[in-house]
Amino acid sequence: MHGDITDEKYINSIFNTYKFDAVIHLAAESHVDRSIADPLMFAKTNIIGTINLLNAFNSLWKNNWEGKRFYHISTDEVYGSLGESGLFEETSMYRPNSPYAASKAGSDHFVRAYGETYDMPYVISNCSNNYGPYQFPEKLIPLCINNILNNKSLPIYGDGKNTRDWLYVIDHASAIDLIFHKGKASETYNVGGFNECKNIDLVKLLCQQVDKKLKRKLGTSEKLITFVKDRPGHDLRYAIDASKLNRALGWLPSVTFEEGLSKTIDWYLNSKDWLENVTSGSYQNYYKSQYK
Ligand code: DAU
Repeated sequence: MHGDITDEKYINSIFNTYKFDAVIHLAAESHVDRSIADPLMFAKTNIIGTINLLNAFNSLWKNNWEGKRFYHISTDEVYGSLGESGLFEETSMYRPNSPYAASKAGSDHFVRAYGETYDMPYVISNCSNNYGPYQFPEKLIPLCINNILNNKSLPIYGDGKNTRDWLYVIDHASAIDLIFHKGKASETYNVGGFNECKNIDLVKLLCQQVDKKLKRKLGTSEKLITFVKDRPGHDLRYAIDASKLNRALGWLPSVTFEEGLSKTIDWYLNSKDWLENVTSGSYQNYYKSQYK
């Protein structure tokens, strides 16, 4: 079933009907550029929506927390931006720089506060940039694949030196599974790919892989790269220290970046109907206003 987490009545009714003994909360507005255009929408979904889930879970089980768990999936963006060196650790200070990151930091704080105030058993994980099948083409990788297929420019913000730590989505799913079942209550775990890449290097690698797969002259896609106006408040570098998760639960990513990127491109090349479907309608308006 599908519903809106900001709809308090709906959330209460499904919790009362199904008596969920655990929540794995991934529902969120997740795109930084959209949060710059509409911060309130992010506060509503990410903060109010999370409070609705916490309240519904709390009303159902208060005083009877044995075997229950609220798991909040969050982002490394709550820690702000790194300089040229250093890694985000679980103890790093929260310094969110975008409305999106601030809304996720807010939801993390509410989850922790329900743990302290109502004894709700919780766990939180903060993950780096995901990529893989079904990612909406507002995010860098699917946006570039879609634009290459449509022979449109590949917009790189600023000088392209901003760095992200990329994790294949299936590896994030395996971390979530492990943390949900084995993670210690009241703990937070950082999840990352041990895989830092500058945006410009990533897009060049993507272009090369697409050209190879489409059996066309190397360099064809790269010609589409266009440097555009930077994102306001654009975080320079994210890099996760995921060693706590490795030490405590033995987790490591299993897919290399080259492999993950190749699988991702294959998926999009074989899913043109899906791409066309999600990029028609309101996506066109979003794209025009974002990249005008
Ligand atoms: O770090 C985890 C976060 O990663 C998640 O919490 C967010 O939900 C997710 O959107 C992602 O945030 P980013 O802002 O890093 O992802 P995005 O794909 O939007 O951008 C990746 C990098 O590429 C970033 O430095 C901005 C840049 N970029 C992005 C777009 C969409 C461009 O240069 N051009 C673009 O058109």
